[in-house]
Amino acid sequence: TKGGFSSFMEKEIHDQPDAVRQTLLGRSDLNGNLTLDELRIDPEELKKVNKIIVLACGTAAYAGTVAKYAIENWCRIPTEVELAHEFRYRDPILDDNTLVVSISQSGETMDTLMAVRYAREQGAKTISICNTNGSTIPRESDAVLYTHAGPEIAVASTKAFLAQITAAYLLGLYLAQLRGNIFSGQIKDVLADLGKIPAKIQTILDGAGPLRELARSMANEQSILFLGRHVGYPVALEGALKLKEIAYIHAEGFAAGELKHGPIALIDEGKPVFVVVPSPRGRDSLHAKVVSNIQEVRARGARTLVIAEEGDEAVKAYAEHVFYVPETPTLLMPLLTTVPLQIFAAELAAAKGYDVDQPRNLAKSVTVE
Ligand code: M6R
Repeated sequence: TKGGFSSFMEKEIHDQPDAVRQTLLGRSDLNGNLTLDELRIDPEELKKVNKIIVLACGTAAYAGTVAKYAIENWCRIPTEVELAHEFRYRDPILDDNTLVVSISQSGETMDTLMAVRYAREQGAKTISICNTNGSTIPRESDAVLYTHAGPEIAVASTKAFLAQITAAYLLGLYLAQLRGNIFSGQIKDVLADLGKIPAKIQTILDGAGPLRELARSMANEQSILFLGRHVGYPVALEGALKLKEIAYIHAEGFAAGELKHGPIALIDEGKPVFVVVPSPRGRDSLHAKVVSNIQEVRARGARTLVIAEEGDEAVKAYAEHVFYVPETPTLLMPLLTTVPLQIFAAELAAAKGYDVDQPRNLAKSVTVE
């Protein structure tokens, strides 16, 4: 049931503190050591991995992009992300030291399944991050790391996305632990930060009133842009996808650095632009660059709608609206910054009178190629 919410999507957005909590549960011991027992691949084999390829479609592929940043940061293993349906057709280079990580909520997405099969045939090791017990992709993979988001009914993915990102962090930390790339104290710190995420998501959900009001006022917009850098980039892509899927509004996500290479020509008076800003406590240059991107679009007349970390005063001067999320390390920020964008899309689609759970032309799981 919808549990008193107006749609399954709204319910699932509100399920997210629990989806993250459940996905973290029971996966580390008291000393902060990760114990991913379901990963039935010989640890010695995993130590030999010298390349990781993440395969997925749609929202799951954006979770994969977040995974790339985290895995490369913690494990120092070159990691690429590819849309599963593009993968097979480019004659990819794989061998038995390649680890293929597929991400799928349903575990039945045909494009992803075919890519996993292909990777196995080439001798790669395959791990599936999946939300559906016993589904086809995990059954055909060497190992599985389940997300515990619970069943996701709405076509637009929300809680599965956050759970996928959470599982990808766990996988990255596990590989780093195994290979000795990271100190156990450091793993403990990240796990502690992850443990605080559910309550922080709840804070965002509880404070979403002004964001919902803004969404309702924007029901007649023709086009909305989303900018982000680093892990904020896949968040921008996800924010745009949600809006396209359920509100049928043209939306595009860009890496903020690409602006001057073309997209900035789209900016004119009154164009709404969401900007996902990294923590000002992180790498200085990253934060400063994004702030100057806000300035650039504002100077050309854009309405700047900024998602930033609590306490970030620097964004205020150039923002029409700022929506703050609680403090967290930059690498983990997608678990928070995505939430306002999901709420925005759901509220706007509802204001337009659309069926938020069953958008036109789409199916929950795409079982054809
Ligand atoms: O079940 P999967 O995670 O494999 O599905 C992949 C995509 O089809 C899915 O994420 C799709 O993009 C969603 N409708 C996005 O909200």
